[in-house]
Amino acid sequence: MMDQELILLNPGPACTSKRVKDALLRGDLCHREPEFTELLFRIREALPRCLNLGDTHEALLVTGSGTAAMEMAVISSVREGRAVLVVNNGVYGDRMIRIAKANGIPFYEIKSDWTVPADPGAVQAALDEHDDIDAVICIHHETTTGLINPIKEIGEIVHGRALFLIDAISGTAIEDQDLSEVKADVVCGTANKGLHGQPGMSFILCSEASIERIQEVPERSLYLNAASYLKGQRKGDVPFTPAVQVCYALDEAIKEYEEAGGFAARTKLYRERAALVRGQFERLGLKILVDEPFRSNTVTMLHLPDNVTYDALHDELKKRGYVIYAGQGQLSKDFFRICTMGEIPWHRLEELEEALRESIEAARG
Ligand SMILES: Cc1ncc(COP(=O)(O)O)c(C=O)c1O
Repeated sequence: MMDQELILLNPGPACTSKRVKDALLRGDLCHREPEFTELLFRIREALPRCLNLGDTHEALLVTGSGTAAMEMAVISSVREGRAVLVVNNGVYGDRMIRIAKANGIPFYEIKSDWTVPADPGAVQAALDEHDDIDAVICIHHETTTGLINPIKEIGEIVHGRALFLIDAISGTAIEDQDLSEVKADVVCGTANKGLHGQPGMSFILCSEASIERIQEVPERSLYLNAASYLKGQRKGDVPFTPAVQVCYALDEAIKEYEEAGGFAARTKLYRERAALVRGQFERLGLKILVDEPFRSNTVTMLHLPDNVTYDALHDELKKRGYVIYAGQGQLSKDFFRICTMGEIPWHRLEELEEALRESIEAARG
């Protein structure tokens, strides 16, 4: 193992700055004290602003990983006897279906190939065919393959007919799409990933229509009922014990993000990183699964080189200071992922090319 810090090239948890890690040590704090209320108000106000939704959306924070935000969004958007339409082209689309099933919510599914972006025309057709759809769900960045879905186009179709929910968990503050141009009612995100906070807190950003809906749906879960978060958080309160230290870290990560230039600067950084590492992949002869126009700014799904297994490549790269990520589901045998998410020194990304070259050689069976 090198004596350099291990760089995580997986799509979260992502590496964080020293400043964000130090914020975890701000001290012990009871969430019923005014200092926590202040912290909560600051974060609630900042999150929509950070994602260009400051004038239109209200944040609800929940302790839990991104799936908690997804589940809260789904179960708080569909009225009794109504259904959800899930646009599914990857593991996270599948997870939305599983959430609907687990909560007894009727669903329709538009399933497509994992390497093909969702088809807005199919959403239009499904809305025309079924008159009981309360919410449409789409994953902005399908982390499964590093594929971007056309949320802007789908939002135009859904607007006024149903609520539009986007899972922006691995895309927020990373992908170029300005969310203020997307007609989304619920945006799911997390503290870690593109915001570079610590994992453990997630959030949903809600439009006015979504806030109204939250108050009309039945209570399907005690912990993930958005109505109780809405009621509490407007007063600076949370219904259950929050991950206080993760909130400290998120507060610091938001300051760091805004000081560095916010959305425009962070997305530019991610574009530059993608260009850098994809140039390396090309020189090394590594083939990318997803076609160019649909690629995200972070995840690249790559074919494993001939006679190289994922485990061998992973272990060789780890010896050289990098953690890569396996493919999921049907892609686990022949592919691997490299994700340039989080706080990564530029020189470590430049040095990745040599590390990859050596590791591929060493891993070749
Ligand atoms: C698109 C997407 N949605 C949701 C999640 C939530 O996963 P978790 O609950 O592990 O944070 C992830 C995590 O990588 C993701 O990439």
